[in-house]
Amino acid sequence: MNSLSTVHFYDRSVEIDDHGDEILTGLLEKPRTLSPKFFYDEKGSELFTEITRQPEYYLTRVETALLRKHVDEISELIGEDFILVEYGSGSSEKIRILLDSLKPAIYAPLDISGEYLAQAAQALGREFPWLEVHATCVDFTGEFELPFTSTKRRVSFFPGSSIGNFDRSEAQSFLGRIRNLVGDAGGLLLGVDMKKDPRILNEAYNDRQGVTAAFNLNILVHLNREYGADFNVESFRHEARYNEEEGCIQMFLKSEQDQRVNLMGTCLEFTQGEKIHTENSHKYTVAEVEEMANEAGFSKIRTWQDDQGLFGLFYLSN
Ligand code: AVI
Repeated sequence: MNSLSTVHFYDRSVEIDDHGDEILTGLLEKPRTLSPKFFYDEKGSELFTEITRQPEYYLTRVETALLRKHVDEISELIGEDFILVEYGSGSSEKIRILLDSLKPAIYAPLDISGEYLAQAAQALGREFPWLEVHATCVDFTGEFELPFTSTKRRVSFFPGSSIGNFDRSEAQSFLGRIRNLVGDAGGLLLGVDMKKDPRILNEAYNDRQGVTAAFNLNILVHLNREYGADFNVESFRHEARYNEEEGCIQMFLKSEQDQRVNLMGTCLEFTQGEKIHTENSHKYTVAEVEEMANEAGFSKIRTWQDDQGLFGLFYLSN
């Protein structure tokens, strides 16, 4: 553990080899898949921040406006003297809106991108000198425990509709795990992207600047660098479209030609037009979120939405 004034950093990332098997297994499946968690190397995290600034990607703008508008009410619901655990904190932008009102005793950001997390945590420590930060680099999609001890009440923050990147059953179990982490006295502030006109969704994941395309393709750059793969990144193309039946945006990388790729001693043969499925981004109705929350063991739900019902903010508690 390295500590800098009130900022502590814990590395609970797994060895690269542990992920190698998962990557290879996914790429050998038909259809071929890669987990979206592999988007988030340092470059991928930067590109995601860039996505959130694109005019078509309304999610961040609308959620941020909701947080600003309702921060006092949120603060009243949460109460005092608690640990605020943020899942997938990235650049810790959104938490800045809440910190002065919420005044948590400890802020505990969790993220898979270690370098990025460490920088964000230190910047936050400088900006909020009163705040105790315990940052953990961890793949929070699996089982894990907070690496520090405290008896304080826990409240989780899971913004950005990252819940949508889990399949529905995974999202359900993930909410259950958060419910266990926060216990009876805690709560969860959750941001969820709502079902809507597919045209709005398709534009959000096909921005004109091509930032989402670069983000999607960067997963191959990541595999080339960290796992010794030899993907010819230029011969794959970004594809994203709303699947009405599944209620989710699906992202793919499409091979533009027949080609061979070597990865950890295995040769993968791609035919022209063959796709790697890289991400699902599920969209929900308010009723669907309420059902999941109840199923996970939360009995009270407070909901805030923008006028057009594009995005929802939910505080789940007991
Ligand atoms: C992080 N997550 C909620 C984003 C989303 O909208 O599903 C990731 C993303 N993928 C493409 N654009 C943004």
